[in-house]
Amino acid sequence: MTREIRIPAMVDPHVHLRDLDWAHKATFASETAAALAGGYWVVMDMPNTAPPAINHAAFDHKLTRIGATAVCDWGLYFGASQDDNQTEYPLVAGRACGLKIYNNATTGTLLIADQAARDRHYAAWPAHKIIAVHAEDDTVADILDLVRKHRKPTHFCHISLAHEIDLLTVAKEEGLPVTVGVTPHHLFLTVDDLPTLGAFGLMKPELKTKADQAALWEAIESGVVDVVESDHAPHTLDEKASEKPPYGVPGLETTLPLLLTAVHQNRLTIERVIELLATNAQRIWGLKPDSETYTRVDLDASYIIQRSQLRTACGWSPFEGMQVHGRVREVWIRGQKVFDGETVLVEPGFGQNVAVG
Ligand code: DOR
Ligand code: ZN
Repeated sequence: MTREIRIPAMVDPHVHLRDLDWAHKATFASETAAALAGGYWVVMDMPNTAPPAINHAAFDHKLTRIGATAVCDWGLYFGASQDDNQTEYPLVAGRACGLKIYNNATTGTLLIADQAARDRHYAAWPAHKIIAVHAEDDTVADILDLVRKHRKPTHFCHISLAHEIDLLTVAKEEGLPVTVGVTPHHLFLTVDDLPTLGAFGLMKPELKTKADQAALWEAIESGVVDVVESDHAPHTLDEKASEKPPYGVPGLETTLPLLLTAVHQNRLTIERVIELLATNAQRIWGLKPDSETYTRVDLDASYIIQRSQLRTACGWSPFEGMQVHGRVREVWIRGQKVFDGETVLVEPGFGQNVAVG
């Protein structure tokens, strides 16, 4: 028996597609193809690229390049920079899916540790486009102070600690305009997997304890978590094997099958998966997908995640060897079949910017 479902217009609001000066890691072409293979309609790319998307020239260059090569629809975040780039905001906000503020250290050079500098960015960014924040541990409370002051919609990326969930639960009860994302790696892996994974288990935020992982699953159940975002961050095998491996793991092709496996195990409902991977992000980022944009999935197909089957240019996954249930059969965008389960059916440049306005 095969049970098929149709998921409306899947959105991954947090990816790092690389390209530009980091095209040796991956490209917009390779990773948007991986996005289609993972079932996605839209991917939203973070600004910690090389060069970083922190002025209108770099942003426009990136926009032109992704526009010419993407095979799925997309959005680009603009980056808050250490040296007060707020005068750029009116020049880019109409074409960006949001502003990203890095408040803890990670890949790239965009860390803003000074609360007064963060406050200036919050004051200047237009309220109709979301602010996405990398905030870990105590920094979550610092950002909540800014949300309380400016009342600007804020998405907390890749929340990974039980304590952060507690803070955001209270913030939601308080009525603050906050949303919460969690990643598949924090849902399906813990520090206990590090000895086996080695550098493939290194990312920011880092893997946490089983108790933290349980808190994320509870927050999915209670509704405190709004989206599952892959934080797809490909680095090459050589880079991961190096003395100082960079942080980040790919996830575009494994997020949906992992969540459908949780459905198979009765840990999640299919309705909740559709909210977490599609409809909630559509609402939060103000997207209006065509009714002929959807993904057809075979719920019963079962397979083992293997690097030979992946399209991401990095060619590995922290989930290799896991048995999953659920396979993408077709992706349709704006009435056109763009992926048939094996092959991408559209040309580079088919993808459109969803964040215009
Ligand atoms: O692990 C990570 N990798 N976390 C981030 O925040 C950035 C990302 C990257 O760009 O490699
Ligand atoms: Zn990220």
